Amino acid sequence: MKRIAIFASGSGSNAERISTYFAENQSVSIEFFLSNNPTAGVIERGRRLGIPTVIFDKKTFSKTDKIVNLLQNQEIDLVILAGFLWLIPENLVKAFPNKIINIHPALLPKYGGKGMWGHFVHEAVVEAGEKESGITIHYVNEHYDEGKVIFQATCELVPTDTPDDVARKVQALEHIHFPVVIESIIAEQ
Ligand code: GRF
Repeated sequence: MKRIAIFASGSGSNAERISTYFAENQSVSIEFFLSNNPTAGVIERGRRLGIPTVIFDKKTFSKTDKIVNLLQNQEIDLVILAGFLWLIPENLVKAFPNKIINIHPALLPKYGGKGMWGHFVHEAVVEAGEKESGITIHYVNEHYDEGKVIFQATCELVPTDTPDDVARKVQALEHIHFPVVIESIIAEQ
């Protein structure tokens, strides 16, 4: 059984999509969600899905081994970041080498790095007059959005697209591809 934990700071639509995708899969289990945000929408989604959410603060996450120990004690095989906004501390990266996967709502290496998340990304893409955007799924290291790229998918943009239009097109790609890419990574493990 492959045991997965999902970190999310916000709405959690990707966490839900992944959980429902694997719901009937006998060899994959979404064990729990984790969040730094006690009011995150992902918590309610978890309640509805019967998946508990572990809430933690900055000190616990960045200055202790509590979260690493929890993931190890629960025998987690794969850690998914689905809209998690904090930098992953070295202890966690080292404890799960090539086992932490993030999704970024743009075509890295462009539009990545600290502060480039959610609407800020799509606003920058529109501002730059890009003709396409997309998603990047990558392994996580100690630096924001710099790990080895696993998968990218693109969507075409038109001049009338607003940041919200871009967000909608990108999220559609996320919901299609993220679960499938996770499934392919599990198959390779
Ligand atoms: C997604 O756009 C993802 O690419 C980014 O954060 C957002 C999370 O959205 N990392 P949701 O909380 O899964 O709806």
